[in-house]
Amino acid sequence: MRTADLGGNRVPRRSRGVRGLAMVPLKRRRVAPSASSGHPSPPRTPQHPDVVIFLNERKMGASRRAFLTRLGRSKGFVVEESCSDSVTHIVSEHNSGEEVQAWLESQSIPKGIVDSVHLLDISWFTESMGSGEPISIQDRHKLKVNDKLRLDPPEFTVKNYACQRRTPLKHNNTHLTHALELLAESAAFGENEGRSVAFTRAASVLKTLPRSVQRIEELRGLPCLGEHSLRVIKEILEYGASQEVESTRQSEQYQAMKALTGIFGVGVKTADRWYREGVRRPSDLMDSEQKLNQAQQAGLQHYKDLNTCVSKAEADAIGVIVDQAVQAVLPGAQITLTGGFRRGKESGHDVDFLITHPEEGKEEGLMPKVVNWLDTQGLLLYQKTTRNSYLESKDGPARPPSNMDRFERCFSIFKLESQSCSPPEREKSHQWKAVRVDLVVSPFSQFAFAVLGWTGSKLFERDLRRYAGQVKNMSLNSHSLFDSHQRCFLRATSEEEIFSLLGLEYIPACDRNA
Ligand code: CTP
Ligand code: MN
Ligand code: MN
Repeated sequence: MRTADLGGNRVPRRSRGVRGLAMVPLKRRRVAPSASSGHPSPPRTPQHPDVVIFLNERKMGASRRAFLTRLGRSKGFVVEESCSDSVTHIVSEHNSGEEVQAWLESQSIPKGIVDSVHLLDISWFTESMGSGEPISIQDRHKLKVNDKLRLDPPEFTVKNYACQRRTPLKHNNTHLTHALELLAESAAFGENEGRSVAFTRAASVLKTLPRSVQRIEELRGLPCLGEHSLRVIKEILEYGASQEVESTRQSEQYQAMKALTGIFGVGVKTADRWYREGVRRPSDLMDSEQKLNQAQQAGLQHYKDLNTCVSKAEADAIGVIVDQAVQAVLPGAQITLTGGFRRGKESGHDVDFLITHPEEGKEEGLMPKVVNWLDTQGLLLYQKTTRNSYLESKDGPARPPSNMDRFERCFSIFKLESQSCSPPEREKSHQWKAVRVDLVVSPFSQFAFAVLGWTGSKLFERDLRRYAGQVKNMSLNSHSLFDSHQRCFLRATSEEEIFSLLGLEYIPACDRNA
């Protein structure tokens, strides 16, 4: 214990001269003024600098805490505003040891501090005030922490990387994950990727829990739950909602960014620029001077349809069309539904397909032919095809310089005739629906990597790559797995094989909804 007997060893006041005080770190001498609002009694120079008190507001209330803080400071005690690592004495009122312990853990206060401070009842504080100096700690002042509870295994155990755990589509904590995901989205709108990923990770951990969280203490020991996420979760558990989440949801900026990035072809940067120029809604763009590229024009034109979820039935109908197109231009080619629908989602924002042919090389140049066939049939409202920039050399696939995919791919908007799955309310004049479709062509030799890479979820993919790099010293992308230690590519013909090469338990697609 860092300050084991400080509270117990009374230090005669006289022995503390000015010289002794000069040795005290600045941090401990500084007295924060904020709690002394009301009747400011001028804070005295700390008389007991080795005792650094933190008053736990829980059950004590803010005004009593402020009063006690003023009182302590007026008597030369150091009373800190926050539970920093300089704190030596944590004082609570009407709290059990377990409650304080759990509170400390919920605040993400490092275990080192939790273990080394004195957890005390208010009686120690009031008696110390009475005698004008820190009194020695008696047993009756100490909050008892049940050692059994302390040593109890945590409620849940969750592995660190999303690719090491199962994340089903349906889970038990949607009220919490929706809130965290909204904060992640908002952080992304602010181009703060680190913060966005942190909230996404926290949400993802909650998705793996086998039941709904009731108390913040149950989250003890879980990875990826930072101080901020825990604070939001705690607020929702206690009050049913989080102030920060609700005010973000209501904010003009969040709503505008959400609406504008909802336009196909519009990313965060463009949406943010428009926002700063006063654009709030897609309709503001209709009669504005803003220059829109072709994708954005199509996005604006089909805004409503593209922001209506694609159902599984619609995805299947698109699958039939894509298969027809592919068979027409290259018999024997195979199409695979990837993305969210492969993970078992019942609706999505688009439909993703991977196309290959069992005879290596046959797939070359396939995309323009497929696109041309679809276009001729009048099935495309928009398409943008990017060429394959991936060169397979004799000794294995050339290593791509970045994580970017280099397959032949096509971002498109299909015109889906609605006879097969039409919502009855659809007007007669508009018997089709615009649906976003992503097509990707992969050589057969890379097919397993491509399926794995295009099945998602995005966080699952991110963690697969991170795990490969950080844990295995390998580099994974949608084309290949490179072993940096052996300096060679590792071939695989199935997803199972790739998991096994990474030393991971196989996670089926339906459990990759991280
Ligand atoms: N993907 C990618 N590169 C992109 C876009 C997507 O590699 N530029 C991959 C991602 O790994 C992602 C998968 O394609 O997991 C599907 O992406 P997307 O369609 O955006 O998301 P879904 O998980 O399918 O979710 P949704 O239902 O919203 O479409
Ligand atoms: Mn998708
Ligand atoms: Mn997609």
